[in-house]
Amino acid sequence: MNELNPGLPYQPQKIKKRLSVSGEHIVYEYGDSQVIKFPFGPIYKYNADDAIRKIKNEFQIIEKYFKDFIVPSHLHIFKKNQKKTYCIIQKKVAGRPLKPKDLAQGQLKSQFKKILEINRLMFETTKYTLEFFGVSGLFFHGLNRWMENIWIIDKEINSKNITISAPENTEKELKIIDFGLVSELNMVSSSFILRWFVKWAVNRQKKLLKLYQ
Ligand SMILES: Nc1ncnc2c1ncn2[C@@H]1O[C@H](COP(=O)(O)OP(=O)(O)O)[C@@H](O)[C@H]1O
Ligand SMILES: [Mg+2]
Repeated sequence: MNELNPGLPYQPQKIKKRLSVSGEHIVYEYGDSQVIKFPFGPIYKYNADDAIRKIKNEFQIIEKYFKDFIVPSHLHIFKKNQKKTYCIIQKKVAGRPLKPKDLAQGQLKSQFKKILEINRLMFETTKYTLEFFGVSGLFFHGLNRWMENIWIIDKEINSKNITISAPENTEKELKIIDFGLVSELNMVSSSFILRWFVKWAVNRQKKLLKLYQ
């Protein structure tokens, strides 16, 4: 909450540079150490209530299964101009998307195998899978877009609440920066076009994932 704008779960004056407007969110730097994400795009415009239900569900599932691999994030649901909406405030990370050749490093490979294994378990129980590539990554893989939602970042040392960024040659770790999940089996009520697209996306993701094994 903030005093200037009661009811808003964030402080507008802390919003800085825009980082991305490619997928389902507009992402800005928020203060010095965080980012803030606002929903955007046709899925949200078409049915905001569904989008909110979707993101709430995704947060619950991903926090349960991937707690060691997620960037600390908070989902805030609130009302703006009488309309229910949400924002995500997340720790800002310095890193880049995962590429197949990064898995030559044994340590990253074993982390990635763990992610795939958890993803398999999550799918067995919930029928959801991670969105490894993001929508544009699915279309443009090969044009340097790679695995947009899984990033390699410097491992950090946390001591007595002080976060110290690790020096140059320290360990790297994989983190999920985008909590989007996808399921072709949990979409009974969606439109034909959306179901067709999700089916395509799930198959394309399966094919692309083979490049990482
Ligand atoms: N925690 C973060 N730290 C730094 N940059 C981020 C972070 N989260 C997102 N970004 C930037 O914003 C882009 C889109 O973020 P993402 O959460 O994947 O949104 P979308 O739902 O639109 O795919 C990322 O590719 C990255 O460039
Ligand atoms: Mg994304």
